[in-house]
Amino acid sequence: MRPALLGLLLLFAAPAWSAPPPERIIRVAEMHGLPPLDPVAAAWAKAPAVTLQLHPQSTVAGGPGGATLPVEARILRGGGQLAVRLAWADTGENLLDARATDRFADAVAVQFAPVGATLPYIGMGEPKKPVRLWLWRAGGKPERLTATGFGSLSKQGGAPPEAQSRRTAAGWEVVLRGKPDVPFTALAFAAWDGAEDGRAGRKRLSAWQALIKPGGRLPAGLREEARPGGDAARGERLYAELGCAACHGPQAGLAPDLTNAGNIHWPGYLRRAIREPAAFLVPGYAAIMPAFSLRPEEIENLAAYLMKPSP
Ligand code: HEC
Repeated sequence: MRPALLGLLLLFAAPAWSAPPPERIIRVAEMHGLPPLDPVAAAWAKAPAVTLQLHPQSTVAGGPGGATLPVEARILRGGGQLAVRLAWADTGENLLDARATDRFADAVAVQFAPVGATLPYIGMGEPKKPVRLWLWRAGGKPERLTATGFGSLSKQGGAPPEAQSRRTAAGWEVVLRGKPDVPFTALAFAAWDGAEDGRAGRKRLSAWQALIKPGGRLPAGLREEARPGGDAARGERLYAELGCAACHGPQAGLAPDLTNAGNIHWPGYLRRAIREPAAFLVPGYAAIMPAFSLRPEEIENLAAYLMKPSP
């Protein structure tokens, strides 16, 4: 068995998690002065590295499918700016070419969740809960964007982030540095592979990652989002009794496939989605999910079941 897979199994073999699993947190290193733009600068050694899994977008038609993409992230803060260093494996170098409409660039985005009572929808925000983004495309200029849902990217005023990239034998190392324009609590990452026509919804996506100072704790605002659900085994039985799979089964096609839900969502999001289906609609789907009348602990149990990764 591959070590990464074994690690994942061990991680989830633990009883219910009482804090987000380690991969839902990124520890930031603070420094005096501006963090470096150069991906090989010595200062990066100060920032703890965390390897995140980016999952193929599965809720939009034509998503990339295939394997998850591990991305190593390190974050440094100093001089009023934030610098994010991302490294990932990528087979062919695909640069932006404005004249070619049939070719696409390798790209990566950092998504910021503004401070709020809850985290925005991971797939590029919600109409009432926009997310801010920094976008890097190989061979292009970095951009500062805002989004209120899939396919809603628009330019955001203010200085764009700076970026520096390095093509290695394995893939890309990219540093994005700038001043986030809103106070934020969490970050997420998306990557597009130009070689597989990566663009728009054809991307891989991480879960939200809380940004925490060394020795710090999860911000109060995220504790309810992270609070684990109840009993996964009871949740599984309830899921079958209530017929959730009639719409959500991988083959049903009427609703998002929930096989991966625990990898990209936090428990708080899943509880809300079950309690108030109409409050936010996953883009591309109709408002057909019934508002089940469930007791609070039943919602907790369903959330716990959905947070469990599929075997
Ligand atoms: C009649 C079809 C139908 C049934 C039955 C149904 N759902 Fe849904 N569900 C949907 C649709 C369509 C969406 C996407 C639109 C939306 O957000 O409401 C959705 C969205 C969701 C989401 C958010 C998914 C995401 O990717 O963000 C969760 C979680 C969820 N449902 C859980 C459940 C659970 C648990 C049950 C059983 C108690 C259930 N659903 C029963 C149709 C259904």
